[in-house]
Amino acid sequence: MPLMEPYRIKVVEPIPITTRAEREHAMADAGYNPFNLRADQVTIDLLSDSGTGAISAEQQAAGTRGDESYAGARSYYRFREVIADLTSYPHFFPVHQGRAAERILFSALLKPGQVSISNTHFDTTRANVELLGCTARDLPCPEAKNLDGDFPFKGDIDLVQLERILGEPGAGNVGVVVMTITNNGGGGQPVSMANLRAARDICRRYGVPYFLDAARFAENAWLVTQREPGYANVSPREVAEEAFALADGCVASLKKDGIVHMGGIVAMRDPELAKRCELLLIAGEGFTTYGGLSGRELDMLAQGLLEVTDPAYLGARAAQTSHLAQLVADAGVDIVRPPGIHALYLNAGRLLPHLPPRLFPGHALATELYLAGGVRCAELGSLYLGEIDDDGELQRPAPYELVRLAIPRRVYTQSHLEYVAETLAQIAKRPERVPGYRLVESPPILRHFKCRLEQVPADAR
Ligand code: F0G
Repeated sequence: MPLMEPYRIKVVEPIPITTRAEREHAMADAGYNPFNLRADQVTIDLLSDSGTGAISAEQQAAGTRGDESYAGARSYYRFREVIADLTSYPHFFPVHQGRAAERILFSALLKPGQVSISNTHFDTTRANVELLGCTARDLPCPEAKNLDGDFPFKGDIDLVQLERILGEPGAGNVGVVVMTITNNGGGGQPVSMANLRAARDICRRYGVPYFLDAARFAENAWLVTQREPGYANVSPREVAEEAFALADGCVASLKKDGIVHMGGIVAMRDPELAKRCELLLIAGEGFTTYGGLSGRELDMLAQGLLEVTDPAYLGARAAQTSHLAQLVADAGVDIVRPPGIHALYLNAGRLLPHLPPRLFPGHALATELYLAGGVRCAELGSLYLGEIDDDGELQRPAPYELVRLAIPRRVYTQSHLEYVAETLAQIAKRPERVPGYRLVESPPILRHFKCRLEQVPADAR
């Protein structure tokens, strides 16, 4: 099958085409922070795949059927049926987005001083663990350290370490194990079913609750069908059902694989845990039958969850990312290999060796993609993950200097992505011309969202 989107376009939205001078002006005004740009200054927006997908005609129709009754809306029962069928969890609640699910679950499950273990905690997941006075510990598999290696399941958890930690005296302190599928913080890499099963067995042996962060459950399932022995003839929907069935519950931002602009769930098997979560839900999000969502959104979500495991859709989306990966490789830019689905992670540290970590090469590349072509994306490097002192000086760099190109669902066509690759190729021809950056304003928390920077010209390095 040739690469082709399995849908046609019925509603369009113009995208801004800007000049280099306009972009330079906009970036300087934004303090060289892409989060401060106005969306109407951006040509191709690859900042996030979260809540940025295009809804289908059926979702639009489902939204129109939304029932906005305060309690017991028809929309809730439609949503209920779809989630129960997909996940097999007896208890679940809608929430407005993933981090609300995390806050509710961890508040009900963890006691101060306990530890949460994960293949990699997403940043809000980590924050919600730490806000409760607990510790978040990541155990990525050893293969994940080699960015260039083609191990098919670099999202796996390190089973040896997991077994060792849970077997230690005092391991009663581990309150939960969370498997993030796919592993967003770890290069968007998938987790194999074998690893999900083995981690479940270890958790069961030591009596530790085992949860999924299932934000990209369908994309993980697709990669399992493509890469894991024994799954070639299993449908992505069946793989997803099997993954949910392995765990004691899940938290999920459904702004990704629910293909909606807002939504999430928290789900579990344990009825006592469900009762505690329900109280927190009502106090903080909304009544049991709507969580933080409108009837319209619940109905659109129910429909989106039916569409997202369609093999034609997933196959085309994966092919789109692979196509971009090939063009990026042709331009001589390395990525975290092998490419996943929701994003490509560019190895900016390698492309810009003239910029030491203290001049934020990942940020420099992300900024240059905007200046050169109006492409917005964000770094995952020392600006975001490094240790920075009160004067804005980098004390400990991040392990890698990466840039994430996140691909919204059903939004951009092949030619849009070719434009992105061409913009990158132009930069890669003369990488030494890309300037570094230094912080001029750096808030104590959530630094990368709100900081401001300035360019460091070549002769001032
Ligand atoms: N877990 C994972 C794996 C995520 O990628 C995200 C969000 C969340 C939890 C939190 O969900 O935003 O709905 O509250 N990721 C977005 C991103 C923001 O761009 O990767 P949320």
